[in-house]
Amino acid sequence: MTKRILSGIQPTGSLHLGNYLGAVKNWVSMQSEGECLFCIVDMHAITVPQDPEALRRHTREVAALYLAAGIDPEKSSVFVQSMVPAHAELAWILNCFTPLGWLNRMTQFKDKAGKKKEQASLGLYGYPVLQAADILVYQATHVPVGEDQKQHIELARDIAGAFNRFCGEEFFTIPEPTIPKEACRIMSLRDGLNKMSKSDPSEHSRISMQDDLDTIALKIRKCKTDSELLPGTVEGLDGRPEAKNLLSIYGALVGKNLAESCQEFSGQQFQPLKQALTEALNAHLLPIREKFVELVRDTSQLDKVLLQGAERARSLAGPVLVEAQKRVGYLKIPSAK
Ligand code: AQP
Repeated sequence: MTKRILSGIQPTGSLHLGNYLGAVKNWVSMQSEGECLFCIVDMHAITVPQDPEALRRHTREVAALYLAAGIDPEKSSVFVQSMVPAHAELAWILNCFTPLGWLNRMTQFKDKAGKKKEQASLGLYGYPVLQAADILVYQATHVPVGEDQKQHIELARDIAGAFNRFCGEEFFTIPEPTIPKEACRIMSLRDGLNKMSKSDPSEHSRISMQDDLDTIALKIRKCKTDSELLPGTVEGLDGRPEAKNLLSIYGALVGKNLAESCQEFSGQQFQPLKQALTEALNAHLLPIREKFVELVRDTSQLDKVLLQGAERARSLAGPVLVEAQKRVGYLKIPSAK
């Protein structure tokens, strides 16, 4: 069976190194493995308050970054989620096949709602069901994500199974998560126990894909470390989350695994690692940033790509939605000629 690959990122801010290493970089290489759909999930973004103008700007910026990083719109469909209404329509059906008990286990809701659970929106609670719809409406076979999203993909599989049992046939394809072996969870530069995130209030917690050379150098210079020398083995990183994070990022950029990165800096202080990391970041991110700046300037070209991507996505999602609607019993009356 041909692979159909789907993934997306929320336009909740500028993309950061975690989004790139955990997601976009892997998407680029997957383009030769199957049919790819990459969306900008603005409907997920509004599950927490957004400034409408900023959301529109970030939506185009995320699209520009996909392209700047190497997503080829001739090979892959690049589109905005809200421009394909089938996502929302299928999500409603799937809501009716998702027991609350399954949603109560989702750790992302607990993390994002925090202590203010009663004030969190129904949208935030139902986020994983919309994510299941994003995937199932294309009968996607593979979903490349960072480790933090594994639980949601497992839920999407469970929801697909529940629907399939209801209709007594393998209607929905059961999707597989594809999680990179290295750098699947990039941590904050200020605290190696928290994941790097767009919504962290500290700019210094993350490397933005839009940072210039001086900003990258400053953030790496100031990032949190510990007072010990770097170990020569992966086991030596136990209890040292910041050292592990910096070595993982370095390895992901230069194509080394964690053990190899440890060997390279074995017994050294953090300074040489920070220096090498800054150089690797610059070498890797500068060409992406240059292309990005060019692409966001020309919004008409970008919009053309998004319109074409949405059209393609609608043509794939439409028939799946109609078949799902028939199976739950929606009345379908052929329109009069
Ligand atoms: N720190 C990370 N390390 C590795 N992968 C990551 N991803 C996100 N953060 C890291 C991967 O990026 C993809 C899209 O993420 P998203 O924007 O849809 O949602 P998120 O995971 O909630 O990302 P953020 O940056 O933390 O956004 P906010 O702050 O708005 O919630 C996913 O594949 C994710 O695994």
